[in-house]
Amino acid sequence: MPDIDLNRLVEPDRVHRSVYTDPDIFDLEMEHIWEKTWVYCGHVSQVPGVGDYHTLVIGRQSMIMVRDHDGAVHVLYNRCPHRGVQICGNPRGNTGKGFVCSYHAWSFHLDGRVRAIPLMKGYEGTRWSTADPDCSMKAAARVDSYRGFVFASLWPDGPGLAEFLGDAKVAFDDMCDRSPEGEVEIVPVCHRVVQHSNWKFFMENQLDALHPSVTHQSTGVPARRVEQRVKADKGAAPLFFHYLSAFATSFDQWDSVQTVNFPHGRGILKAYMGLRPTDPDTLEYEALMKRAYGEQKAEEFLSRSIHHVLVYPYLSVQSPLQQLRCLRPIAPNKTLSEIWHFRLKGAPEAIYRRSLWYYNLVNSPATMINADDLENWTKGQWGLEASKAGEWVSFHRNHGDDEERDGVLYSTRGTSEVVMRNQFRAWTQYMRDALAASAKA
Ligand code: FES
Ligand SMILES: [Fe+2]
Repeated sequence: MPDIDLNRLVEPDRVHRSVYTDPDIFDLEMEHIWEKTWVYCGHVSQVPGVGDYHTLVIGRQSMIMVRDHDGAVHVLYNRCPHRGVQICGNPRGNTGKGFVCSYHAWSFHLDGRVRAIPLMKGYEGTRWSTADPDCSMKAAARVDSYRGFVFASLWPDGPGLAEFLGDAKVAFDDMCDRSPEGEVEIVPVCHRVVQHSNWKFFMENQLDALHPSVTHQSTGVPARRVEQRVKADKGAAPLFFHYLSAFATSFDQWDSVQTVNFPHGRGILKAYMGLRPTDPDTLEYEALMKRAYGEQKAEEFLSRSIHHVLVYPYLSVQSPLQQLRCLRPIAPNKTLSEIWHFRLKGAPEAIYRRSLWYYNLVNSPATMINADDLENWTKGQWGLEASKAGEWVSFHRNHGDDEERDGVLYSTRGTSEVVMRNQFRAWTQYMRDALAASAKA
């Protein structure tokens, strides 16, 4: 068992740099957080037909999400029980009525049960038998979904999905409720970015209202200038200018944006962008919403104050713009992020195009916004790997002001580092359980 003393690593207002760099800590995180908790696999619309599959990684395990004949969605380990070869080499596709291993053609039903073995002669008298579950592809211990979003847990025990999501369920409600049909459909390709930093940098940054007016000033200020020029010339500027100009907001304005910090590290950054202009597309969409839900309910759905919702420790859902970013950590200093986006079923095409602008302008690896964040996180990782340069990471900002009501932490200031303090409260609990489990093993 690794020699890790949590009391020396996490203090209420600061954490030790090694939580971002230590390979033993990373291994514990993979084994006892990612490979136990509920991990996002994908959306049901990613596998609409029988045999459609999508591959993904949970912790260090390669997995397949697949649609069965009866409509069920399974999540299976991507491994042939014969000699261990991965069954699906492509990120997605259709496997027909079952899986066939490319090495010696063992085949499997869509739920992973072994179907046929060529040349059965040769197994007589051995202890191998198709009745043995070890001859089938292994399934994730638990699979469940919430409003079409599929999660799997590789651990048979622990809270169910609804309990795991807790207050963060609002991320999926907010996204789906904005559709006149109450559902979303995934756009089945995503941006993938390998971040050269620990996964915690990304999660902390999502609700860090202190950085945008600095980090993104070089994009926000020129964008605002152009937006104002377009407004002066044409009377109005398309919403996508606002996506970038919003980053030019001053420190004081960011300070007035509230964060809500739920138990288990989850949290919300409240809305700071105006997403309800009065152009004809938006008015048409809002009319559809009112027809579908009635005036009052539609207004409730359209006016929820959310920018991001975090499902700690790996998901950031930007529900008002139908996007989701999912972390798949690779190493202490390497993290894959997948950036997915969705269509609101029944909403006009223009509303989809509008959120696509945000996807490409802000969340894509090619944008200056994302590039500036990535640069900070990489430099952050380098700084923390320098063993003689300093030991601590500071989260002192507004420490002592946190107000706890019903387990939820609030701060009077949007730029408070209560966000990170809350995430480390959750991380410490996860790691306490991890250390207890590895002591027992
Ligand atoms: S490794 Fe899959 S059939 Fe042999
Ligand atoms: Fe940022």
